[in-house]
Amino acid sequence: MVNIRDVRTSNGVFKQTNSGLVAVFVGATSGIGMGTLKQFAKNANSPTIYILGRSQSAAKPLLDELSTSNSKAVLNFIETEVSLMKNVDKACDEIKFKETKRRRNRHPASPTLLHPSPLHLQPPRPPPRIAQPARNLHPRRRAESEIDLSDLELKANYSGLKAMSSGTTQTTLAFEELAKTNPSVTFIHKYPGFVDTGVVDRLLRDTTGLWALPATFARWFILPILDCFATSTDEAGERGVFLATSARFPPLKKPDGWEAAAVPLPEGVKEISEETGAYRLGAKDESVDAVPVLVRYRQEGAGEKVWESTLAVWERALARSG
Ligand SMILES: NC(=O)c1ccc[n+]([C@@H]2O[C@H](COP(=O)([O-])OP(=O)(O)OC[C@H]3O[C@@H](n4cnc5c(N)ncnc54)[C@H](OP(=O)(O)O)[C@@H]3O)[C@@H](O)[C@H]2O)c1
Repeated sequence: MVNIRDVRTSNGVFKQTNSGLVAVFVGATSGIGMGTLKQFAKNANSPTIYILGRSQSAAKPLLDELSTSNSKAVLNFIETEVSLMKNVDKACDEIKFKETKRRRNRHPASPTLLHPSPLHLQPPRPPPRIAQPARNLHPRRRAESEIDLSDLELKANYSGLKAMSSGTTQTTLAFEELAKTNPSVTFIHKYPGFVDTGVVDRLLRDTTGLWALPATFARWFILPILDCFATSTDEAGERGVFLATSARFPPLKKPDGWEAAAVPLPEGVKEISEETGAYRLGAKDESVDAVPVLVRYRQEGAGEKVWESTLAVWERALARSG
């Protein structure tokens, strides 16, 4: 467990030492992603930040706030709908193009690629190969659970809840698979605890049918109590920056320059290591033991199956989009 004081100490050291980092944010126009983006912009020196979002005009107040908090940050908003696969590829190409051009014109600093994504976005085909120290962050919903490996797309048996739990399990397995071929990248799948982003309020508000009445009750009488114990988006964001920068989370194979780029550990905080290369963290950034079903899936090689299925969906979607 890492307490918030240590997180702040680490982020303070990060502020004094980093320069010229590159970060990509997806799903950062509200909630946990936005909290992390704001904290990153505040603490990074002359960063280049790519923000993928659905509406640049809706994001204008956020972009203004980021520019005010760090006048040296270069902000690139890429307006796109990332639930369309062809848009993900297009956005990745745009980032690669802009970065290649930028680096040709300037001496590159050693960048960290930060990618906190609340979406079920998978890296582009083929998985990214990143020579410099890099990290990929993704919020996690509770623990992994049993999934139907013969119906990974939930075609035969769909429900919102199944989609959520299947997404969690598949993301962990996919990260572990990706870590095998990208050992110099740190993958982090983190359960953020209950963060007061308004997401539960929206979910309860939009519930219809039989569940509408219990949802309204929960919204008016239970949620306000839960909110008193929730983590703020600012604190979730501080932890996001810590995950992306601290020496606590080494990749399977530290690339050249990793030690110099990672923020040294505050006193009393220890490096942890994960033999799969993909960290599964709890709310206080502690490593969480693998649940039995995950151990079994690893032994059965389910990760390979999940990743193959993901790529197949990807190819199919791209073929359809012409
Ligand atoms: N909050 C919690 O307590 C909690 C706990 C455990 C796990 N999580 C997980 O953490 C993640 C983030 O949660 P949150 O509470 O921060 O959610 P949120 O406030 O609803 O933020 C979601 C973000 O994703 C973006 N987004 C959604 N669909 C998109 C699409 N199709 N294309 C582009 N952007 C899209 C939204 O953009 P727009 O601004 O355009 O809508 C927004 O920036 C979720 O996966 C959630 O399940 C949250």
